[in-house]
Amino acid sequence: MTLPDFDRITTDRLPEPEVLFSLCQWMGLAPEFTSLLMEALPALQADPAVAERFPRDCHHYRTCSDYEKFRPTEAEALSFYYAFVHFASLPTMRNQWLARGIPETQIQITAGEFDRWLHRYREQHGVWGFDLINWSSVYAQGRLAPLGRLGFEVIPFPAFCHLPEKTGTTPLLQAGDPVISVHIPAKGALTPADCDHAFALAREFFPRYFPEHNYKAFICVSWMMDRQLALYLPPESNLIHFQNRFQPAVVDNANDDSFWSFIFNIPKRPANLTDMPRDTRLRRIMLEHIEKGNAWQIAAGYIPR
Ligand SMILES: CC(C)(COP(=O)(O)OP(=O)(O)OC[C@H]1O[C@@H](n2cnc3c(N)ncnc32)[C@H](O)[C@@H]1OP(=O)(O)O)[C@@H](O)C(=O)NCCC(=O)NCCS
Repeated sequence: MTLPDFDRITTDRLPEPEVLFSLCQWMGLAPEFTSLLMEALPALQADPAVAERFPRDCHHYRTCSDYEKFRPTEAEALSFYYAFVHFASLPTMRNQWLARGIPETQIQITAGEFDRWLHRYREQHGVWGFDLINWSSVYAQGRLAPLGRLGFEVIPFPAFCHLPEKTGTTPLLQAGDPVISVHIPAKGALTPADCDHAFALAREFFPRYFPEHNYKAFICVSWMMDRQLALYLPPESNLIHFQNRFQPAVVDNANDDSFWSFIFNIPKRPANLTDMPRDTRLRRIMLEHIEKGNAWQIAAGYIPR
């Protein structure tokens, strides 16, 4: 395939339509998403306020280490403004990965994750838009590789996680230790075979392309690590099979927000549970558990290298 003219994708200004089109092709975006972005571009190009803020936001996007660096408004999400901030970072990310020897196809697959973020917005809001600019920055910084069914991110072991204390021993993981954080994108069933394959890919990928990140373990911080799920779901279910790969770890000040966002597509627990849909086993057990007076909490797990 013809590569986009990456020199014309800059942090100074929005891309020209033909450059945007070839970038969308390179990312493998569905024609529907390419059209959405092509249609969004003229209004943004015509807005002097956008021209003024774009270079500043692009700089902030690449350099700010605070995860919550942007708080997109609904209007910004619907305008796709932040998609263009993200796209402007792709040439740098691509150069960094090429310098590591990472193949172009893997870079394209990584950039192509963008389409799922549009799906996510639609699941939550019923219309197309893009607001996952803080999450996409992890990709823009070249820290996350989608490998098969899972995503794997190079991180230091977070200070808000702890391994359970065992008397007289030093825990395997301390805050700051190099680890690989495992992410589970919403793209169909999480079969054990697909996960085995993804972990096998990660075990080859990181020593080869990120040798300086001598990771001590894979970790996962998620609602999927709450061990109470195993009280309700059978061991052979995909969720429990996945959970059982990991040894339990603790998350400080854990809450249940991501249960609501990933299982019901709403940001927080609603005041009234009676009208919540009970169409899948997971949704039913989640509500039943709370109705019995219990609570869910995100947790962590780890797999030593
Ligand atoms: C992770 C995921 C792929 C697991 O799905 P799965 O492979 O279908 O899991 P299981 O087969 O073990 O599911 C058991 C039951 O829970 C239901 N279920 C699983 N995940 C669900 C979800 N996110 N929302 C609603 N119901 C769900 C399944 O439909 C099934 O119920 P059923 O028998 O009535 O169909 C799925 O939860 C998902 O796509 N989640 C969104 C991404 C996410 O949460 N990532 C982690 C972020 S921290």
